[in-house]
Amino acid sequence: MMALRELLAVAGQPEVLRYWEQLSDDERRLLAAELEPLEPRELRAHCEEAARARARHTAPRDRLMEPLPGEAIGSSIRTEAEILRRWKERGFHEISQNQVAVLLLAGGQGTRLGVPYPKGMYDVGLPSGKTLYQIQAERIRKVQQLAEERVGRQCTVPWYIMTSEFTLEPTQKFFTQHNYFGLVKSNVVMFEQRMLPAVDFNGKIILEQKGRIAMAPDGNGGLYRALTNNKILEDMDRRRIRFVHVYCVDNILVKMADPVFIGFCVEKGADCGAKVVEKAYPTEPVGVVCRVDGIYQVVEYSEVSQETVEQRNTDGRLTFNAGNICNHFFTVEFLKSVTEEFEPQLKPHVAVKKIPHIDEKGNIVKPETPNGIKMEKFVFDVFQFSKFQEAEEPPAVCEISPLVSCEGEGLEEYLKDREFHSPLLLTEKTVAALG
Ligand code: UTP
Repeated sequence: MMALRELLAVAGQPEVLRYWEQLSDDERRLLAAELEPLEPRELRAHCEEAARARARHTAPRDRLMEPLPGEAIGSSIRTEAEILRRWKERGFHEISQNQVAVLLLAGGQGTRLGVPYPKGMYDVGLPSGKTLYQIQAERIRKVQQLAEERVGRQCTVPWYIMTSEFTLEPTQKFFTQHNYFGLVKSNVVMFEQRMLPAVDFNGKIILEQKGRIAMAPDGNGGLYRALTNNKILEDMDRRRIRFVHVYCVDNILVKMADPVFIGFCVEKGADCGAKVVEKAYPTEPVGVVCRVDGIYQVVEYSEVSQETVEQRNTDGRLTFNAGNICNHFFTVEFLKSVTEEFEPQLKPHVAVKKIPHIDEKGNIVKPETPNGIKMEKFVFDVFQFSKFQEAEEPPAVCEISPLVSCEGEGLEEYLKDREFHSPLLLTEKTVAALG
């Protein structure tokens, strides 16, 4: 109790315990369990930042927006069949080497869908009655089988599933009841993301019951912390996974470990990729992948003016048309650099919501208008750390004197196992110095 009071005092939230005397032992234990994992200074910063961020006015970002450069894009409808086939083969090659995993973001509360169970358990109305989880599991089985047919041995695409306090238990039960839909249980790895308190507009933690804080998962960008906390990248290393396909639970069309997408990203040498769908009409409510001030990112539809969303190229297509569908490619190396270095730099986004709470008398109130703030990180906010930015740097320069080599002959002898830096000038003199 003392520790809890101290934690909340440091966090600037002593009021959270205002009904402590009225709580049963069980309620007290639950409340303590919810609070104890939170670091008090971080909690204070979280609450204060939420109130500040809501009050802040975000300037429209139109002026700095540019569409994606051509060399960063591969189109599945405008690319020759031969190249598409090459990407697909490359993707299947990586899958058949057991180097590809899929990672499902399934920690959301799914308030808009409004069912009292995780979205993945939703029966979408197919004649078969299959749920989203079942469809996705069966697609993994199929892609494994197709890779196996190519190489004549067993192939595995592990399935990592990020859940939250809301979704972990029911998801686990559901998978057990359905015998993991025919997948090997040890290849389905579920892990849990962090929960953070929702706060009111003054930065005070909201109680949804006398002994219960209104907690919310920390956004799908909570992935990066969750990877660290649950040692998921170590698990990927053990399985020798190099590439990860990340997607959202409510995508019924998702191609699990899509070989074309994986192959394209691997061939490009990308550490990070986003599969996009061309926007159908200017005001379609979807974020677009673009560059802002030279930095790759997703800009939400609410952040741009009507004029910008309606801008078109000479061919009539929308200028900002790369609709983000939360379908991403990451190398494990990139995920390591994010978790080890960049995660703290990710800025949370403010979501203003109607959050049920208790009034001064302890009665539960369901507000008609938004009353609280949830802070969420977004999975795509790591694009800014992608090495794709380096495409902006000048290409490496190497001049080889014709007196050294006419058409490449003899170069191996001079260059093998040596490291050089751009610009490199290979003359008779420098070659002689190499010995
Ligand atoms: P949505 O933005 O659709 O959020 O999430 P949601 O929580 O599922 O639904 P609403 O907003 O309450 O109606 C997009 C994807 O990101 C996952 C969701 O499970 C979904 O696959 N997600 C979202 C997380 O994994 N964690 C989160 O904290 C939030």
